[in-house]
Amino acid sequence: MLIIGIESSCDETAIAVLRDGRQVLASKISSQIARHAPFGGVVPEIAAREHLNSIQPLFDAAMKEAGAGYPGITLSDIDAVAVTQGPGLVGALLVGVSFAKGLALANNKPLIPVDHVHAHIHGALLGLSDKVAEAALPCLALVVSGGHTNLYLVENPLDFKLIAHTVDDACGECLDKVGKLLGLPYPGGPWIERNAAKGNPDKIAMPRTVEKKSQMEFSYSGLKTHMAQMISRLPQPIPEDQVADMCAAFQREAFQQLIRKLEIARGKFPHVRSIVVAGGVAANKTFRSMAEGSFKIPCHFPEPEYCSDNAAMIAALGWHMLNDRGPDAFKATDWDVYPRYPFENYKFDSTGAHS
Ligand code: KG4
Ligand code: ZN
Repeated sequence: MLIIGIESSCDETAIAVLRDGRQVLASKISSQIARHAPFGGVVPEIAAREHLNSIQPLFDAAMKEAGAGYPGITLSDIDAVAVTQGPGLVGALLVGVSFAKGLALANNKPLIPVDHVHAHIHGALLGLSDKVAEAALPCLALVVSGGHTNLYLVENPLDFKLIAHTVDDACGECLDKVGKLLGLPYPGGPWIERNAAKGNPDKIAMPRTVEKKSQMEFSYSGLKTHMAQMISRLPQPIPEDQVADMCAAFQREAFQQLIRKLEIARGKFPHVRSIVVAGGVAANKTFRSMAEGSFKIPCHFPEPEYCSDNAAMIAALGWHMLNDRGPDAFKATDWDVYPRYPFENYKFDSTGAHS
């Protein structure tokens, strides 16, 4: 079964073609980082216009790559179109959704609306062998990106129970904001990692945020404010070696919080077989080695190309949805969104467990 994935929720336009939900025949990504960097963050209007410019050429390139082997792949060979329907920037989403709708309607294909955050989890499973991916569930899945810090209990490939989320900033957002305060380029996360590699995390004391043992929620605004105050008290420009030490101490504390929460969740859900970490921050090598040494069960991280936004993860989740509900459930003429973020279904009790 061949599925086209389309992603345009933020600052990456992406198109992928997958066979049977796991074999990536093509995965094309056009990043807009350079366009947004002068503004220090994503400008929604620019993002939408850039998606509009890149989506058709990217689609053509992905189809060419997917069909590189004889006898090639044409639109008539495609079984369905899967597209990110949210969450994301409205203008940006509109470009991908409109393109996908046109493609599905004109070619009489099912149109599958995919949740971007859930899809990140499938992105993390893509690089694993079929056997390892199958053995990974049920898992605890942490999606840690510029927009989200969400922890899910995933019992099966389509069952995402949100068990904790950030009460303020996302982890990646905090890295980006502190990076900006330190004068590093956008996005801050990778630059903090680069600087941290030259620094000593023990040289600068960090506050322990969200200390309460049973508390599952994440919080990053306290750490961000601490860094902002520290930076404002220092004479500028801050010497390079001091920036390196600050980056090392700050990122370690940011990641330790993720690991502490995962440990709490692991205690609450002892039946899980693995921990899956996804989203842009999962690209951080220090975080990977901290997490890999922390749990007795396997800890899966995505291949680098599937950490940030991509369309292979959209097609992967779309394939599971199509298998589960069949093509008639996804008629392009019946397009509708499906409910996401069902907070009301998962009430938190004082121990952080959902009911
Ligand atoms: O998943 P993603 O590409 O987009 C969103 O859906 O948000 O994640 C982007 C986030 C940014 O905050 C960026 O700074 C962070 O991922 N990031 C990193 C690294 N690479 C990207 N954070 C830490 N270390 C990295 N190597
Ligand atoms: Zn994302």
